[in-house]
Amino acid sequence: MMRLAFAPSLRFKITAGVTLVMVVIVALYTYLHYDSHRSLVMRDAGATLTSTSQMIEGTLQHAMLQQDYDDLQSILDNIGRQPGFETLMLLDPNSVIRFAPLQKGVGARMDLRDPACQTCHTPGAPPDRQNIVYSTAQGERVLRNCNPIENQPACYRCHNAAARINGVLITDYSLADTDAHLAEDLRASLLLGGGAIALLILTINLLMDRLILARLRRVSGVLQRFGQGDLSQRLTLRSRDELGNLAETFNRMAATLQDKDRENVRLYDELQQKEAARTHLLQQVIQAQEEERKRIARDLHDQLGATLSGLTLSIEAAERAIPDQIHSLKERWQRAKDLATQALEETHKLILDLRPGVLDDLGLVAAIRADAEAHLQSRCQVQVVVTGARKRLPPQLELTLFRIVQEAINNVEKHAHARRVNLRLDFQKAVVQVTVEDDGQGFDLETVSHTGTETRGLGLLGMAERASLAGGSLHIESQIGRGTRVVVTMPTPPGTSEG
Ligand code: HEC
Ligand code: HEC
Repeated sequence: MMRLAFAPSLRFKITAGVTLVMVVIVALYTYLHYDSHRSLVMRDAGATLTSTSQMIEGTLQHAMLQQDYDDLQSILDNIGRQPGFETLMLLDPNSVIRFAPLQKGVGARMDLRDPACQTCHTPGAPPDRQNIVYSTAQGERVLRNCNPIENQPACYRCHNAAARINGVLITDYSLADTDAHLAEDLRASLLLGGGAIALLILTINLLMDRLILARLRRVSGVLQRFGQGDLSQRLTLRSRDELGNLAETFNRMAATLQDKDRENVRLYDELQQKEAARTHLLQQVIQAQEEERKRIARDLHDQLGATLSGLTLSIEAAERAIPDQIHSLKERWQRAKDLATQALEETHKLILDLRPGVLDDLGLVAAIRADAEAHLQSRCQVQVVVTGARKRLPPQLELTLFRIVQEAINNVEKHAHARRVNLRLDFQKAVVQVTVEDDGQGFDLETVSHTGTETRGLGLLGMAERASLAGGSLHIESQIGRGTRVVVTMPTPPGTSEG
């Protein structure tokens, strides 16, 4: 089922809350007021009806004693003409109508089983009740008064002394007017209450707008700009109420944050300067190292290499001069020659490591291939794959890449115990990517890189450092028992010549 996201506003909530309370109060008040008013009006009507009935009774008695029934008739006629008097009838004890205005219905017999009689004429009904209200078939409410007329000695002359009651006077008074008046009254009360509620809501809304909402909008505007980074934003609510306090608190907080921010900016600048200095230093160190290596390589080549070559040649010449008979001597010479040759080879390898002339002469691919072969071929299977448009890169970049790969190869040689090593050079449009992948024993990257003092950790750090100095990145994946993959990615300057 989908849920509607209804987020009522503050204005809505307060208005709804106040309206609810006000409606309850007004409804309760109106009801109580109406109820008390109504019972008062009804009591009045009942009292009026009772006194009217008693007046008629008095007239009746007088008329009876004077035997002037016309007087009684004319009084009934008069009252029957009054508005609101629906029925007026004098019944004998058998419920037969004996007197009525204009003699209407005289001689007819009323039925005591009528519900409007039954209310009082059922066993258990209160004996002294005189008034009831009943509704006619048309829905009109009628107040009925039943006034039993007691027999008394003065009447015995013509009435049976044994009878307790000579008859009853029944008077019906319509409540239509009274009800209309009450309804009018209720409408007026409700209208007044509704008006009061509307006025109150209007006032509350106006107050809310001026005192709260308008200021909250300003607060939220400031907070928004502050949140977007303009830390100089401040709230200017000058009142000393809750919102004013809020503004003050915010301003203090903002000031603190702004101070901290300035401090951060300063620290950041400082850090960047230091970083720049460090980078510069590092570059110089690397450059110095390279130059040193170059110099040592040259010296080794020029001096030790030449010396060893000479030595080998001399030994060979001397060997040839030795007569065949002197076997043992020849063997020793042989051994000396082998050692000299080995020394020469190792020197060449050393020179290659220090400063591979191949790199300058034949380029990155050749240098990497040579290095891999020199160091790994005796231990495992080496494969070098080149993809993409192979090209020469700026010397500095080639040297950086070579040094990183050299370190990776060095690691494989020293730690990996690999059976296969794959070297892949991928010349892409804007980057060159070199991958060194082995199937050796791998290592836990976390442990090694966190023990930064260990040579291997330092080696990895150095690789990453070189890569980032040249604007590239280094990515190492390794898992114990699952081999290692080193990927170095370097951006290449545009327009490098094909080679
Ligand atoms: C408000 C209550 C009330 C209503 C309504 C009412 N009566 Fe009565 N009526 C009385 C009382 C009280 C007496 C006197 C009973 C007594 O004192 O024994 C009485 C007495 C009578 C008597 C006299 C004989 C008797 O039974 O005691 C008659 C007849 C009578 N009523 C007829 C009627 C008829 C007909 C109606 C309906 C049109 C009616 N009344 C409606 C209250 C009522
Ligand atoms: C002189 C005789 C006389 C005296 C006294 C008298 N009445 Fe009547 N009354 C009558 C007559 C006659 C009727 C019948 C009238 C008719 O039906 O037209 C009657 C009718 C009534 C009736 C109408 C019911 C019915 O039975 O017809 C009532 C009630 C009544 N009288 C009450 C009284 C009372 C109360 C007194 C005493 C204060 C009294 N009367 C004294 C002669 C008398």
